[in-house]
Amino acid sequence: MKIKDVDLGDYPIILSPMEDVTDPPFRTLCREWGADMSYSEFISADGLIRNASKSLVKLDIEDSERPVGIQIFGANVDSMREAAHMVASMERRADVLDINFGCPVSKVAGKGAGSGIFQDVENMFRITRAVVEAAGDMPVTVKTRLGWDEKSIIIADIAEALQDCGIAALTVHGRTRCQMYKGEARWDVIRDIKRNPRIHIPIIGNGDVRSGEDAKRMRDDYGLDGCMIGRAAVGSPWLFADVKHYLKTGEHLPPPSVKERVKAARTHLSRAVKWKGERLGVLETRKHYASYFKGVPDFKDTRIKLCTADTSVEVMELLEWVENNF
Ligand SMILES: Cc1cc2nc3c(=O)[nH]c(=O)nc-3n(C[C@H](O)[C@H](O)[C@H](O)COP(=O)(O)O)c2cc1C
Repeated sequence: MKIKDVDLGDYPIILSPMEDVTDPPFRTLCREWGADMSYSEFISADGLIRNASKSLVKLDIEDSERPVGIQIFGANVDSMREAAHMVASMERRADVLDINFGCPVSKVAGKGAGSGIFQDVENMFRITRAVVEAAGDMPVTVKTRLGWDEKSIIIADIAEALQDCGIAALTVHGRTRCQMYKGEARWDVIRDIKRNPRIHIPIIGNGDVRSGEDAKRMRDDYGLDGCMIGRAAVGSPWLFADVKHYLKTGEHLPPPSVKERVKAARTHLSRAVKWKGERLGVLETRKHYASYFKGVPDFKDTRIKLCTADTSVEVMELLEWVENNF
């Protein structure tokens, strides 16, 4: 599968963009465990053009994680155009620019951005055309949902128009805005997009992929070109290795050893501290520890200690203790 010239190989398994999760420390870890590509957290176009430091820092990428996409969101055509131009003219720019037309939270969708765009589909096309034009030779992708609600599942009808705006791939999370994260993702609607003979861009499926079996079904039964994994990868960067192994062999890898889990946690923490500084690095890595050691027996007390330790030195000492005692 190719996103313009970015070759991701057959049926890539991609790390989904997630706010407060898919920062460079976590993305690089997932890439090392086999994710074929990753995307940044969503970044406000308005924040970027105001030069807000919180938005600018999210543009950071590591060369080792390529191919990587930067995702932007906004409801205003001019802001989105300007932000796209900014991202595409960076000296060390990402490989792909993605537009978020999927975020369901009220503070975004309520302002007509994210999946709020389904309330004004003409604006969706205007924004997409403007971003594609401003991005120049940088490929633009769109990540979206099925529609606003159950009564307006329109993505299969508008996918062709999005393609005509010049996007290089389309990712669809198989839920409506109103579903938020409830119910089951509908992959059949995503399959309908792929089945349209006029669609020639890659269609990437997203929603509820948690295992090699799910990824295989998405490929074999739904015919999609790639698969994006979000929640199941949080605290489990090794999921990518297992999914890829399963797709190749039909078998699972053994679960990661405690040593491997400790190594991942250490790497994550040291990269986070390097990237965000000591305080934020320690605080923001905490939420991953619970999952890193999921399934390790009698781990409760240690998990609490890991999640309350205040300094990276303390966490590293605890991790060493875990390595020697579990
Ligand atoms: C904590 C969290 C943050 C998210 N942030 C973003 C985001 O910034 N941009 C985006 O396109 N989707 C975001 N999503 C949605 C995911 O990318 C994905 O579409 C959704 O979780 C469904 O996939 P999954 O079932 O594999 O998790 C987020 C989801 C979660 C759980």
